[in-house]
Amino acid sequence: MKNKILVTGGVGYIGSHTCIELINAGFDIVVYDNLSNSSIEALHRVESIVGQSIEFIEGDILDYSLLDHVFKTYEFFAVIHFAGLKAVGESVAKPLLYYKNNVTGTLNLLEVMQRYSVKNFVFSSSATVYGDPETLPIVETAPRSCTNPYGQSKLTVEYILEDLAQSDPTWNIVSLRYFNPVGAHKSGLIGEDPNDIPNNLMPYISQVAVGKLKQLSIFGNDYDTVDGTGVRDFIHVVDLANGHVAALDYLVNHQAIGFLPINLGTGKGTSVLELVHAFIESTGVDVPYQFVDRRPGDVASCYASAAFAKELLNWSADLNIVDMCRDTWQWQSKNPKGYTSESFS
Ligand code: NAD
Ligand code: UFG
Repeated sequence: MKNKILVTGGVGYIGSHTCIELINAGFDIVVYDNLSNSSIEALHRVESIVGQSIEFIEGDILDYSLLDHVFKTYEFFAVIHFAGLKAVGESVAKPLLYYKNNVTGTLNLLEVMQRYSVKNFVFSSSATVYGDPETLPIVETAPRSCTNPYGQSKLTVEYILEDLAQSDPTWNIVSLRYFNPVGAHKSGLIGEDPNDIPNNLMPYISQVAVGKLKQLSIFGNDYDTVDGTGVRDFIHVVDLANGHVAALDYLVNHQAIGFLPINLGTGKGTSVLELVHAFIESTGVDVPYQFVDRRPGDVASCYASAAFAKELLNWSADLNIVDMCRDTWQWQSKNPKGYTSESFS
């Protein structure tokens, strides 16, 4: 049976959206999450969207004996590994926490997988591994470098995965390098629910729109870009989720692939200001903003070449910036307090 999949971090933002698409595609999933950055309510809502219950194990990837027990209990075909900490600023303040969770946690998981001969692995990597790109759009063979512990933890795991695939050709590893995931499921039932004041642009915009935050600060308007603001490759989280289904389909049909890095982006750059205006126009809600200094560590422009994903996985993004803004707003306006909102209406 090639359809039993372990999804670590499956209660989180990208994981919860991916669970829906995996189930829709006929995969049988077990979700493993310690709920350190997510609410179990997200999984309940996924269950209501797909109309079935989902096996859930509350556990930490640092807990080797629990992972061992899980692999003893189920016969997995593959693991999709979302579990990890992701806040760049926090990683600078707490590097040990980030390396332990993201690197040691992944090592634990890989050791248990090796022990049970489960050697199909999909890793949540990031465009952050490209650092400040020399050429655009970014191709998978571009040089890698990172400037913060979060990025280093992703890059370190990529190096580990490359060495592992090199040492044992029976491993099949896809490292999906996400660009900027935004948006939400069209039901408005699940979406991104940051714990604190958001670090990322789209949740900040939507929290200003809903009145939780006063105004957006745009970090820099003197970049060498179309309008001076930063340019990113925003990708709808449902497209991203489908990229994981495509990667799994590839693993089902191919062996001895080694370590395969694949960009998941749209291939299109959108500036911060363009996104803000698209949000205002597509929702009809105002988003007051001011320009402030650049944020340290930000690059001017970052967007993917999406050609390799198309060629290899026959996957490409379908949804555009307007879809991303509309679906973000649908989630935010229906759940102004995220998963702690009193009731969903
Ligand atoms: P998220 O925080 O919403 O989801 C991560 C999930 O992993 C959470 O449910 C959390 O509780 C769980 N988790 C964390 N540490 C764990 C541990 N030790 N054991 C078990 N569960 C644990 O984040 P997300 O945005 O859904 O991101 C998913 C993955 O994608 C992460 O690895 C992240 O680094 C990567 N990624 C995210 C982005 C982005 O912008 N969101 C971009 C590139 C890469
Ligand atoms: N920005 C603002 N104001 C804000 C937040 C962001 O102007 O309040 C700007 C940033 O300066 C940048 C753009 O919006 O130009 C996007 O910023 P995000 O923080 O949303 O995203 P980043 O591209 O900085 O980083 C994100 C994730 C990283 C990941 C990277 C590549 O946060 O974890 O995408 O995938 F590594």
